[in-house]
Amino acid sequence: MSNCVCDTLIAGPAQGPLSGEIIPPGDKSISHRVVILASLAEGITEVEGLLPGEDNMATARIFEQMGVGIEWLNETKTRLRIHGVELHGLKQPEAMLDAGNSGTCARLMLGVLAGQPFTSTITGDASLRTRPMQRVADPVRRMGAQVTGKNGSDLLPLTVCGGALTGIHHVSSVASAQVKSCVLLAGLYAEGETCVQEPGPSRDHTERMLPLFGQPLHISNDGNIHLIPAGKLTAPEKPILIPADTSSAAFFAVAASMIEGSNISLKGIGINPRRDGWRRILTDMGGIIRLEDKRCVGDEPVGNMSVHHGVMKGIRVHPDDITDAIDEFPVLFAAAALSEGEFILEEAKELRVKESDRIATMAAALSTCGATVQEQACGIHIQGHEQLTGGATIDARGDHRIAMAMAVAAQRASDDITIQHAGAIATSFPNFVSLAQTIGMNVRWAT
Ligand code: S3P
Repeated sequence: MSNCVCDTLIAGPAQGPLSGEIIPPGDKSISHRVVILASLAEGITEVEGLLPGEDNMATARIFEQMGVGIEWLNETKTRLRIHGVELHGLKQPEAMLDAGNSGTCARLMLGVLAGQPFTSTITGDASLRTRPMQRVADPVRRMGAQVTGKNGSDLLPLTVCGGALTGIHHVSSVASAQVKSCVLLAGLYAEGETCVQEPGPSRDHTERMLPLFGQPLHISNDGNIHLIPAGKLTAPEKPILIPADTSSAAFFAVAASMIEGSNISLKGIGINPRRDGWRRILTDMGGIIRLEDKRCVGDEPVGNMSVHHGVMKGIRVHPDDITDAIDEFPVLFAAAALSEGEFILEEAKELRVKESDRIATMAAALSTCGATVQEQACGIHIQGHEQLTGGATIDARGDHRIAMAMAVAAQRASDDITIQHAGAIATSFPNFVSLAQTIGMNVRWAT
């Protein structure tokens, strides 16, 4: 899997139905968590199926900077052995820690750094330096860490002076797995119980993985998560296997749903209900997705999907599906722009603080290609068309999911679409273009 050094993508109308089989790379969220927990565990953790995207490499590099040994077992960096240093074994980094483009890395690391008896500074790229951090700085400060940074510590770089933490009951104002995981990770270092309460459920990979490392959790009937620190994490005896990323699978599922005669298989895909919102929404829109061979990989449910072309229509997205599909809205907007009728999404203002403002970026990109889009403060209304207008140049604004979503949309354009600032695809899906080509998508890097 080679990283792309290109920044402009050319995507054009598909020349026929899509067909074939794809195994997308490992899940990004799970890959971050395994690197974090294995680094803090006693013993050696073997991992298979890591996502070798730039985001996960940032997390791995940060732990290497703090003294964790990572042995890469293959060239593609999907198999590795992590030599954990135990909860209290991290070394003070000599240089600033760099989370790159990754919000998950920055926010989860804040929880880890809050527990360290040293001062460290974490930063990120230009996009990450605009994203809100108060949501994680506040709770770890209440637990006893000192956090200072720009804008009242809402923006990176943040300097964290960790130390003696005390467990808190944190009531999060957003349903965010990054906030929840940050607080739980800090809770590993705290005195007494840490409890996280969310306005609605968010992805639960941290809760599923902590027990594999010997740290029990209790989820009460009200959905609150309680952690009483066990005092240590222990490397699991068996390797951790990471399922294929459902967020990456979604691009191909939408493409196959939209192109007449298509029929593709997606293998080994994570089907955790907290990540499965896109499949429910796409099915409501008329997508035909058959789930087969359901099984478990570690503590995560997995299945194969076969996706057929369907007659697609706009829908009003059910609020309960929003958090479970939060990363897939760019590609669902692409589907909406090519479906019959109106697609309505409301109560989704979190989309404005992702790698880009995904409501504004997608509204601009789709409108440039002739779609009828009405941006709302907290959502979007899209009126579907039969085809997008080719010949346009759009700006993915350095957001990986916008670039890939527009490459999917272009499969039903009248001509090529040029997608600028698309190099960030390497953060989450370095081999997107080559895999897309195997099923017949018309997409290539500009040379
Ligand atoms: C993630 C949580 C989500 C998601 C992000 C990955 C995670 O963010 O959008 O891509 O791995 O915890 P929020 O927690 O901000 O909703």
